[in-house]
Amino acid sequence: MVTVVGLGFVGLTTALGFADHGIKVYGLEAMPERLSTIQGGKLPFMEPGLDEALPRNLGKNFIPTDDWDLAIANSECVYYCVGTPYGEDGQADLTYLFGAMDQTLAAIHDGKPRVMVVKSTVPPSTCEKRVIPFLAERGVKVPEQMGVANNPEFLREGHCWDDFTQPDRIVLGVSDERSEAMLRKLYAWTDAPVIAVNLNTGEYIKYLSNTSLACLISFSNEMSLAADAIGGIDVAKAFRVLHMDKRWQTGTIRAYCYPGCGYGGYCLPKDTNAFYAVAKGVGFDGQILKNVIDTNDAMPEATAKRIIRAAGEDKDVCIGILGLSFNVGSDDVRDAPSGRIIRALNEAGYKNIVAYDPVAMEGFQRFYKLDYHCAAGYEDVVREADMFAITTAWPMFGDIKEKTDKPVVDCRYML
Ligand SMILES: NC(=O)c1ccc[n+]([C@@H]2O[C@H](COP(=O)([O-])OP(=O)(O)OC[C@H]3O[C@@H](n4cnc5c(N)ncnc54)[C@H](O)[C@@H]3O)[C@@H](O)[C@H]2O)c1
Repeated sequence: MVTVVGLGFVGLTTALGFADHGIKVYGLEAMPERLSTIQGGKLPFMEPGLDEALPRNLGKNFIPTDDWDLAIANSECVYYCVGTPYGEDGQADLTYLFGAMDQTLAAIHDGKPRVMVVKSTVPPSTCEKRVIPFLAERGVKVPEQMGVANNPEFLREGHCWDDFTQPDRIVLGVSDERSEAMLRKLYAWTDAPVIAVNLNTGEYIKYLSNTSLACLISFSNEMSLAADAIGGIDVAKAFRVLHMDKRWQTGTIRAYCYPGCGYGGYCLPKDTNAFYAVAKGVGFDGQILKNVIDTNDAMPEATAKRIIRAAGEDKDVCIGILGLSFNVGSDDVRDAPSGRIIRALNEAGYKNIVAYDPVAMEGFQRFYKLDYHCAAGYEDVVREADMFAITTAWPMFGDIKEKTDKPVVDCRYML
């Protein structure tokens, strides 16, 4: 039996993914509203596949609860899927992780050994240098009383269910045999390679993945800015031709080697910063990563400039922002480029902004206090705006040029 702490994108997917394979899972969630939504059989966010997996498992193999004693008493393994947001100087903030670990220790009333598994993204050396000493300070012996492991998650929002249930690799960061054996048992249902490495390497593999993706995106964005400065270059066409090279043809990695308006969402911005900060903290100032981050930080401003070039001097022009979620297929607006672009437009004096997104308008309005308003529908934004900027590549925006002759800035190079 397993307890999953934190029922966000990663935790709810993990809990339901294990439950679907016959493992009994308790899900602990700190936000009462989120917990009761899940207990009622509804998803707190949009995620295809999870909507069917939840009712299938709810009350059977999956028990969402706020009863720590019940969950921990019955679990041999505790998965931490809590947030690890930006902390000081770009470092990962581990407050939620340590809070959840303290709650776990308080709920243990027997002497049975368990395994604590960090699925949250945490920088290399977190388990070794932070978690194990944290447990030692509380008198917990590792691994005799508590195994410590990590099991990084590679899912993409919008594809959470498919990515979890059809993984291409499972990484286990482990330092003792009991933890490794328990984790291998949990993944007995998959044919994917299960790779056990030491704790630091497990954590590092996750950052290697995210920083390499960020690198491709920033490289593509820098190339698009250079093309823009030179002028007369069809950037979308050029990248599509690059992808015809057969070395780019397998898999979907080429989607990351494509320009847009900067990476956003919950992972790439904070993880690139956290890795850079951790390496810098031990005396390694990574220049490529530094520039990847700087390039991305400059993208909202650069994108706003492209939009302003098309808008002209008249600050009353009505700019239609098409797309608010950080990526297609998701309603997540955390660190969404659209938010930063609207802020940059506002700062330049453009406040007559109307936005539309098929799924993310409600979340965006809660999250961002900016000068803009939302349109009721796609047709309304097309009617109201004097010009458009595509900021999320929703396929529905592919027909914008058939709908209107007004200027369109294709910030995602999708047309
Ligand atoms: N979202 C992704 O695409 C993705 C992909 C891979 C890895 N990750 C990593 O996984 C982790 C979680 O990401 P997420 O997007 O699922 O975050 P999230 O914010 O959607 O979910 C985290 C949940 O943990 C809950 N929580 C925090 N402290 C708690 C506690 N003490 N007890 C119970 N619940 C608690 C929060 O209320 C929240 O619902 C992060 O470290 C992230 O970097 C995310």
